[in-house]
Amino acid sequence: MLKNVASLSPEEKKTFGKSLNELRADVELEMAAKEKEIRETELQHAENRFIDMTIPAKSQGRVQHPIKIVQSQLIDVVARMGFDVHRTPNIATEYENFDALNIPSWHPARDMQDTFWLKDGRVMATHTSCLQNELLKTKTPPFRAVYFGPCFRNEKIDATHDILFEQMEFMVVGDNINIGHLKHTILTMLKELFGYEPKIRMRPGYFPFVEPGIEVDLWWEKDGKGRWLEFMGCGLIHPNVLREGGLNPEKYSGFAGGFGLTRLAMIRYGINDIRLFHENKIEFLEQFTVG
Ligand code: FA5
Repeated sequence: MLKNVASLSPEEKKTFGKSLNELRADVELEMAAKEKEIRETELQHAENRFIDMTIPAKSQGRVQHPIKIVQSQLIDVVARMGFDVHRTPNIATEYENFDALNIPSWHPARDMQDTFWLKDGRVMATHTSCLQNELLKTKTPPFRAVYFGPCFRNEKIDATHDILFEQMEFMVVGDNINIGHLKHTILTMLKELFGYEPKIRMRPGYFPFVEPGIEVDLWWEKDGKGRWLEFMGCGLIHPNVLREGGLNPEKYSGFAGGFGLTRLAMIRYGINDIRLFHENKIEFLEQFTVG
């Protein structure tokens, strides 16, 4: 009826429009009163209902994915160490994934991670480091943050490389942060996770967003045989990255490090083929669920 008012003569508009507005006000009042009545009855009903708070929550399924199990264990460890936990995006801007991390478009380091580009110029996140810039801009130092998320790389799939895998990254920013803090943090995390302090080896590695850059290898023994496994990339946050995040590198310093959760789950459970993670076979998943 309100729509039709436009087609009426000015005279009709005056009288018809006026009564129409009165009618609308009446209807709205009635509706509000009815809504209040319904809500009150519902509330009374809920108050009378007996809720047993001790009943365990309904289980969301019988098995848990090994990546999720490792992730919950890690969250438990890092939360006790004072880290905030975040999730990284599936899709990142070119700036977040590369430029803000001291990797401009001409930089050969872009080739280190084969990238899936979207038509609009954004990318499927190639590493969890794509959250660094946002965290630097939104958090106030000193802070400790951990962030989990999926990484997509246009790689040839084999037993140890997939095109989709999960990473965990950690970042600490404050005053006078040095390599000693970084090493201690890595060792504490791994000790808490494994129940003993594993042997690690730190050697120089190149990532444009840290200086110095370090690769961490993990000594892994199975059935009496041991070997070094490449495990993590880390280092002290590059001054350009701090600056791009709005922080003065003369005042603040920090470290960051990232590793494949998938790789960690493989080491932990002796899984020898990465492709098993995405097959979603119940026989595979059942082996890791406790209880
Ligand atoms: C990075 O992704 C850096 N962002 C790590 C980093 C963070 C360095 C912060 C410095 C500071 P890299 O490309 O090496 O680095 O990947 C890190 C880990 O992800 C590897 O050690 C490995 O465990 C895992 N990874 C990489 N590619 C694959 C793949 N195709 N499939 C499964 N896991 C992978």
